[in-house]
Amino acid sequence: MFSYSIQTHIEFGDGAVEHLPEHLVARGFGRRLLIVTDPGLVRAGVADRIAGLLSRAGFVPRVFAEVRPNPDETVCLAGRGAFFEHRADGVVAVGGGSSLDAGKAIALLARQGGTPSDYALNRRPYGPPAPVCAVPTTAGTGSEVTRSAVITERGTHRKLTLKHEYLRPPLAVCDPTLTASLPPDVTAHTGVDALVHAIEGSTCKGAHPIARAYAREALGLIYRALPKAIKAGDPASRHDMLLGSLLAGLAFGSTDVASVHCLAEALGSLYETPHGLANAVMLLPTLRYNLPCAVEPYAWIARAMGLAREEDGAERAAEALLAGLRTWLESLDIPKLRDLPGVRPSDFDRLAELAYENTSTPSNPRPMAVSDYRAVLEMAYAD
Ligand SMILES: [Fe+2]
Repeated sequence: MFSYSIQTHIEFGDGAVEHLPEHLVARGFGRRLLIVTDPGLVRAGVADRIAGLLSRAGFVPRVFAEVRPNPDETVCLAGRGAFFEHRADGVVAVGGGSSLDAGKAIALLARQGGTPSDYALNRRPYGPPAPVCAVPTTAGTGSEVTRSAVITERGTHRKLTLKHEYLRPPLAVCDPTLTASLPPDVTAHTGVDALVHAIEGSTCKGAHPIARAYAREALGLIYRALPKAIKAGDPASRHDMLLGSLLAGLAFGSTDVASVHCLAEALGSLYETPHGLANAVMLLPTLRYNLPCAVEPYAWIARAMGLAREEDGAERAAEALLAGLRTWLESLDIPKLRDLPGVRPSDFDRLAELAYENTSTPSNPRPMAVSDYRAVLEMAYAD
């Protein structure tokens, strides 16, 4: 048994952002809009370009560009203040996962009050947010179609997952040309995050046939396109990556992620490791640890990625997945856990606890205790 719903209207294609104003009008967004983004996109001219598009179409935009990687509650509260000051009707969130998640949280706080931790810790009921249009500029997050936003708690640095259908943006405008100037390392890290969404979204507890259908397409696209997207940055592979990321978002957006993300978010909490990089580093050791409980699902993934044939037995196909992923990650120059700035084995107990407390731990195909997370971290560090 499963349930599935999606309320996001998706516009996808090269140049789609040029038509942003008409889609906002069609979806009933008001005139006064808060553009939630980061300083890098201001420097790259993307924020001004979108503000200009909106102004020329009669909207009244204001740019709020204070989002940093691993956004915390403070930036969400500042964004809510900017929303009120501007007397905004809605949010246009432009950027990677950090800006999209912050934009979703700001829209919720603007209409429902409270702080992100009030919602994540069930101290306040969710209610309808201000309308959000998500414009991804990285191919990885999938946040443009998901019902969650990950925000860092003030003081503790814990990752708070806000999750509710209300957080699914009503509009996503996905333009692959916006990802064209991403540097190779950011392209690689965010792209592996998208692959992890497809893997975890289709193999976690609660995975269902619709998620697997999206994931199957996403896995093939991302596996083939990412090495080309980082090397040449050609338009076709950028297109396929943003499409793969969107499809992966549709896969995990109705199921969950699992322990790769739990560990990645723990690393992000303690060391500010960018989300995609942390996922890329933890992917292989976590899948290796999960394998005894996930032979059939991982064999399915291997076949979807073209790493095994239909006639290969499940054990052989699952091993082919791990071997193929190792080669693929090496070709993308993904570092090892021990190479990440700040990582020390003396932090492993804390990291394991943080990962265990993550709300997605129960979704992992292998039951995970704190000691299991510690074992994965040790395995990753020794690799
Ligand atoms: Fe992710």
